[in-house]
Amino acid sequence: MNPFSPELLKDKVVIVTGGATGLGQAMSELFAELGAKLAICGRRQAALDQAAEVFRSKGQEVYVQSCDVRDPVQVSEFVKAVYSHYGRADILVNNAAGNFISPTERLSHRAVDSILGIVLHGTFYMTLEVGKKWIELSHPGTMLNIVTTYASTGSGYVTPSAAAKAGVLALTRSLAVEWAPYGIRQVAIAPGSFPTDGADSRLSPTPELQQQLRERIPFKRAGSKEELAHLAAFLVSDYAAFINGEVITIDGGEWLQGAGQFNGLSEVTHEQWDQLASMTRKGK
Ligand code: HXC
Ligand code: NAP
Repeated sequence: MNPFSPELLKDKVVIVTGGATGLGQAMSELFAELGAKLAICGRRQAALDQAAEVFRSKGQEVYVQSCDVRDPVQVSEFVKAVYSHYGRADILVNNAAGNFISPTERLSHRAVDSILGIVLHGTFYMTLEVGKKWIELSHPGTMLNIVTTYASTGSGYVTPSAAAKAGVLALTRSLAVEWAPYGIRQVAIAPGSFPTDGADSRLSPTPELQQQLRERIPFKRAGSKEELAHLAAFLVSDYAAFINGEVITIDGGEWLQGAGQFNGLSEVTHEQWDQLASMTRKGK
């Protein structure tokens, strides 16, 4: 069940990087249900083939090609192949990412390069390749970048990811203005906590860490892939045509929970509030 017309994305060709797993797969599934034709890349051919089989078994159109977004040559070949296959592309979702928790001082320069390469350079290469094509063909299009809430706030223990996602957010806002005259629209989604194998195994590999993450969220639950996919479908659709350069947070209020100075008072019991009230009323 979804709230959209089944023709919302009819015949739109949507490129989703990292679309064979996790949130990328969930977005691709909904896009296809709404009439889109998919072009998906990732590094692992087996994961791509497995995802493609599922789409095709539902009669949905999908093109898959192995591509490491850190390599501009592979990115260029992938985009060329999408155009050879479909003759067009309408929407680009930069979703591929790499991440893991670590104290920053434990990182090697190769670890830093790996995350910056996937998230910042990979997004930039894909954006350049597709953007140049759209400009050359005078073809309007929409780019959706998946960032994180800490792209805006920063976060310890995931510093390469935080720096790279902040860069992607800056790219989103910059091109929203620069490429608007070409009819190219930019939007971003900042997800909070969404259980996926990729994220869970690298960011919260123990039940305790998972619990800790859930406890930070005012709703005391993580988001579902479907909730994220619904937001993505709206943002890439023509109904969001006037939204440009914005990042939409979908985190159950998690980052605000951390930001509000007095939010920790949610731990205070009714009895303690009675005592506190008698003290604070004396303050007048
Ligand atoms: C410290 C690590 C490490 C770790 C790898 N490295 N994992 N260092 N702690 N846990 C180091 C390696 O030792 C190596 O450095 C360097 O990083 C590159 O490692 P490789 O394994 O050679 O890299 P590669 O095969 O390219 O794999 C990239 C990867 C991997 C990022 C390390 O995890 C991956 O493929 N990830 C893709 C999927 C993913 O990460 N999904 C989660 C997205 S979730 P040396 O010096 O030893 O050579 C997300 C959510 C954000 O982004 C918000 C959550 C709330
Ligand atoms: P995921 O399943 O691990 O997704 C990452 C995808 O990126 C995989 O399909 C992976 O495929 C692909 N990828 C990684 N490196 C690549 C490379 N070099 N070239 C091409 N593809 C590459 O994790 P996810 O949780 O769904 O994450 C999806 C997006 O949501 C990411 O941008 C992530 O930062 C963002 N996000 C997730 C959460 C969350 O809680 N899950 C929160 C905030 C933001 P291969 O391994 O086959 O290459």
